Amino acid sequence: MAPAAVFVWLAAAGGRAYVSAQGARQGEPILPLPEKAIDVEPAKVALGERLFADKRFSADGSVSCQSCHLPNAGGADPRRHSVSAFGKIRPVNSPTIYNVRYNTMGLNWTGRTGDLDAQIKGSIGNADTMAHDWAKVVQVLAADPAMVAQFRAAYGGDNPVTQENASHAIVSFEKSLVTPSRFDDWLQGKDDAITAQEKVGYDKFKAYGCVACHSGINVGGNSFMKMGLIGDYFGDREKKGRGAIVDADRAGCP
Ligand code: HEC
Ligand code: HEC
Repeated sequence: MAPAAVFVWLAAAGGRAYVSAQGARQGEPILPLPEKAIDVEPAKVALGERLFADKRFSADGSVSCQSCHLPNAGGADPRRHSVSAFGKIRPVNSPTIYNVRYNTMGLNWTGRTGDLDAQIKGSIGNADTMAHDWAKVVQVLAADPAMVAQFRAAYGGDNPVTQENASHAIVSFEKSLVTPSRFDDWLQGKDDAITAQEKVGYDKFKAYGCVACHSGINVGGNSFMKMGLIGDYFGDREKKGRGAIVDADRAGCP
């Protein structure tokens, strides 16, 4: 983005006051991750982590949640397009699941999904994701003694393998994926938590207007934005020759 096309984040935010977390630096457009203890239980998180990596959640056994939300790739998909069950190529790739509990505008690029529980149901049932159904997943998990034991350790009861418990475990895992950093410490008021160079970068980030969209706890994801606020995003890509590659990719999409 050309630095010439800057605008001040406060103006862009319509003068809206940012809610300050306790102890945070006042007036910063980016807020620290809340410091409160994470409200999840370890046994449920561990079960959720295991389910997240379980390919039996997809109809053809080819993908788990983790296939498209890679822990070592920022919780997102480093590929341009995520690849679903039966090798179907998605028109988009996955957003990160890190700090996803702090998203405020609904889930997915469209914001169409309200909560993490509904998101899981959607992922499993969607023909373009896992193409499966919850009842069958539960049936398979309930027939696996190791799984039953882990469900029992987390939830107790004679019949612990249920959709409700499985979904709750995955949501618990997702809620545990919070990534406090030195920058959060700085936002909490610890002056030497970031280097002088990093501080200059953050000042530029504000001065160039990046914070008009990249603000709040999740440094973004709290507004819907037209792609190409300043130029013709898709048109410019065509002109630079990149569009041809993108279109070729899209042509292969369902
Ligand atoms: C085939 C790849 C794929 C698989 C498998 C998959 N996802 Fe996703 N996930 C995506 C894509 C792509 C999106 C964005 C969809 C959209 O906007 O249309 C997404 C969106 C999400 C989001 C919303 C994130 C945000 O910031 O809005 C969450 C949470 C999520 N997935 C969790 C899961 C869970 C849990 C599973 C397993 C039950 C799963 N995903 C399986 C590709 C996948
Ligand atoms: C008009 C709103 C807007 C402004 C201003 C803006 N961005 Fe973004 N940015 C977005 C959106 C929307 C996305 C996600 C779309 C995508 O990844 O294609 C994004 C994605 C990104 C990503 C990729 C994040 C990821 O998780 O992959 C980076 C890095 C980024 N922006 C940096 C910047 C910087 C640096 C500036 C200032 C020079 C800036 N942005 C200004 C809206 C904006």
